[in-house]
Amino acid sequence: MRIVVGVTGGIAAYKAVSVIRSLVLLGHHVDVIATEHALKFVGAPTLEAISRNPLHTDLYEGVAQVRHVALGQQADVIAVVPATANSIARFAAGMADDLLGNTVLASRSPLVVAPAMHTEMWQHPATQANIRRLEERGTVIVGPESGALTGGDSGPGRLAETETIVASILTAARAAKRRAIEDEQARDLSGRRVLITAGGTREPIDPVRFLGNRSSGRQGVALAARALARGAEVTLIAANLEVPVPEGVSVVRVSTAQQMATAAAELAPRHEIIVMAAAVADFRPERVESGKIKKEATGDALTLTFTKNPDILRQLVAARVPGQTLVGFAAETEADDAERLEIARRKRERKGCDLLVLNQVGWHEGFQSEYNRVQIIDDSGSVLADHEGDKMSAADVILDAVVQRSLAG
Ligand code: PMT
Repeated sequence: MRIVVGVTGGIAAYKAVSVIRSLVLLGHHVDVIATEHALKFVGAPTLEAISRNPLHTDLYEGVAQVRHVALGQQADVIAVVPATANSIARFAAGMADDLLGNTVLASRSPLVVAPAMHTEMWQHPATQANIRRLEERGTVIVGPESGALTGGDSGPGRLAETETIVASILTAARAAKRRAIEDEQARDLSGRRVLITAGGTREPIDPVRFLGNRSSGRQGVALAARALARGAEVTLIAANLEVPVPEGVSVVRVSTAQQMATAAAELAPRHEIIVMAAAVADFRPERVESGKIKKEATGDALTLTFTKNPDILRQLVAARVPGQTLVGFAAETEADDAERLEIARRKRERKGCDLLVLNQVGWHEGFQSEYNRVQIIDDSGSVLADHEGDKMSAADVILDAVVQRSLAG
């Protein structure tokens, strides 16, 4: 495997040497990129001798070989050992003013980050927010562990053990390779045009307020990512997403249900598969105030009158073109499985879609979470699949049902 190990400037930089050595002894090709600060903690000759390759440090070296992108493009995995608070912040922000930043941004390979820093820095809300941002993008964070730190301090912030870091690097690389092979084998949506809605609509009340919901867009974006990986041409109608859209997906940004209805009506005839994962407001304020509603003017209670939004899914079903498969979602809060299923079956009938994906939502389920339980109901009311897992795997199960249905039809 080709592995890039980025070494950044912290006292734990000397431990990167044993990670590099283990990877080389296991037979992997290791390219090391050291930041300027890393070289204050560990010497270039050590990193070169242990990796058995020239050390990379300078963005402007090897310009003819376009090294700032080549290393990342060729890598099966990039690991940053140790990752300082500063380097984590820089990756989270997508900064690319040194060779390591460029390499990380230019790569589509998995990124493994092994943080090491003082406890206060690790626990700082800024670092924790940066870690969450990286995790949302699929970065594997290894450690840190709790233990002795420099200067006699002790607590969380110590670099994970060499064996743990090496195992995480190899697991991430193997999983990415497996997924790439599976995607290559299962390009079962090749040549298909797929339209997906994602996120939650916002209905303005006045220039500063809106009526919205807690959809993050994760499930819809996961569907777009998996459909793209399976060979489809994907268009995403995106309403107020909290997550980034994968490169290669064509995006139409909207905010309100009416804007989503207009975009969907225009795009639907050109798509063979339509999946409505967005949480659409059923109602909107009848009147949008031109100025902020003032507390003094409303007294102790505020009454708003709402008017119905178009039912986009029903409109698309009514205007369907031959051969089109339409998938709706049902987000229901009932705790009882049988009751939820019955509500979903009736919803599918009312909406007239081919498949309906039922997910239980609540304060902690469905919305925003990384996980989802999906039950897929067909037009006879049968449950085709009942799957619980991360939203990527849920997306694959939904697309499997779509593919099976289009093959049958
Ligand atoms: O975005 P996440 O945080 O990942 O959360 C995912 C999710 C829970 C939002 C998603 O999995 C989901 O369930 N989306 C549909 C939510 C919803 O609006 O459900 P509903 O039961 O209210 O609507 C039923 C179907 O009709 C949906 O396909 C919806 O897109 C569609 N609809 C609803 C209202 C409307 N006016 N027009 C519509 O087309």
